[in-house]
Amino acid sequence: MGSKKNIVLIGFMGVGKGSVAREVLQHSKYMAIDTDDVIESMENQKIKKIFESEGEEYFRELEKNVSLWLQNSVKDTLISTGGGFYKVKNLKKIGTIVLLDSPFDEIIKRIKNHPNAANKLKKRPLLSDLKAAKKLYETRRPEYLALADVVLDVTNKSANDCAKELLKKVKKYA
Ligand code: S3P
Repeated sequence: MGSKKNIVLIGFMGVGKGSVAREVLQHSKYMAIDTDDVIESMENQKIKKIFESEGEEYFRELEKNVSLWLQNSVKDTLISTGGGFYKVKNLKKIGTIVLLDSPFDEIIKRIKNHPNAANKLKKRPLLSDLKAAKKLYETRRPEYLALADVVLDVTNKSANDCAKELLKKVKKYA
């Protein structure tokens, strides 16, 4: 323990950060956490409810608090993040940044093909308007790319293949 740098998964909503993270765990000894899960458990409220009752700005403040804790207290861990988490100032100090990348239409197709698609859409307030979501994607993608140490194109790949590719690519940053 104590020898591995954290891996931080960033990327747009629905690109498969959670699925890839779960597969990485099958092939490695990382611990794992998800920033949305940390926030939900600390607030004892679902993300959707936090957006509704406290607003997006409040949620972004929670992300900042989580980012400081990650930087100071978390190691050997695969950290999956919400799609907007990358905006925290200390992102690069948390670990090796891995972008899961795919075109917007492929991401939406992926969500819609999921057996639990309705729920996947419902729980993400920023996906309720697809036109606005596409705009957000276009703004964010160059920002994601600028921060990434490793870019992983996940289009039409299984989570298992993505995980194997990821582990190969992060080796040199470990
Ligand atoms: C958000 C993405 C969500 C969640 C929140 C805001 C965003 O996480 O953090 O709804 O700003 O892109 P996922 O990327 O896991 O959907």
